[in-house]
Amino acid sequence: MTKASFDDVDLVLKTMTKTIVDNAVYFAQLDSIVGDGDFGYSLRNGFEVVLSDYDTFDRSSVGSLLKKVGLTMAAKVGGVSGPIWGTAFLRAGAAAGDRTDLAPEDVIAMLRAAATGIMARGGASLGEKTLLDALVPATDSLESAVGDPALQGDHGVQAIQRAADVATKAAEDTKSMLAMRGRAAYTGERSIGSVDAGATAIGVILQAISAAWREKYGKGEPA
Ligand SMILES: Nc1ncnc2c1ncn2[C@@H]1O[C@H](COP(=O)(O)OP(=O)(O)OP(=O)(O)O)[C@@H](O)[C@H]1O
Ligand SMILES: [Mg+2]
Repeated sequence: MTKASFDDVDLVLKTMTKTIVDNAVYFAQLDSIVGDGDFGYSLRNGFEVVLSDYDTFDRSSVGSLLKKVGLTMAAKVGGVSGPIWGTAFLRAGAAAGDRTDLAPEDVIAMLRAAATGIMARGGASLGEKTLLDALVPATDSLESAVGDPALQGDHGVQAIQRAADVATKAAEDTKSMLAMRGRAAYTGERSIGSVDAGATAIGVILQAISAAWREKYGKGEPA
């Protein structure tokens, strides 16, 4: 797989932002089943500011850009999501450092750093019905694609689609889990039977990123 350029980073961040804004009501509805129904709106509040301030962010490196996104999320998003998403972007940015393009291995390192940061910040482990239950399996899938000869030569189109499908399925699988973190944990056994809002959001975001990536690279241009 070839490197992702700064333009690709912009594409991913802008696709993510648009997806979160467009799905705010849906994500909030999911959170209202077992949580307090603020998730989609909190996230939208933060990403709307990311969108409006995007052109003012320091773009000297991927690290500096993601740091700005993280600081915006931490400052603008209330409840548990501000610190969690803020930490995720700050850690991913620290892993990217002063790079201006990213090898597949760099992307994996950034996703791992984000997940480790989320765990450190929110105390959750896998299986506790949080967004980690979609993010970590999707990262595992992407990592295994990096060394898979069948998934080379298409600029990551198939690998990203596979990771998105893994996240979607993993989010569905949170249905049977008992919520151990956030407001959803207050509902105890009642949380079993419905999907986690954060994990679902990860699946929806990755599907949108995959569609945007396919749109850009899936037309047979050389990888
Ligand atoms: N400790 C945690 N670690 C990782 N993810 C978490 C944690 N707590 C909640 N989440 C994720 O965040 C989503 C809910 O986000 P939301 O902003 O609604 O938080 P909350 O639990 O309602 O707390 P608050 O109302 O204080 O913000 C959940 O669906 C879950 O995926
Ligand atoms: Mg909530």
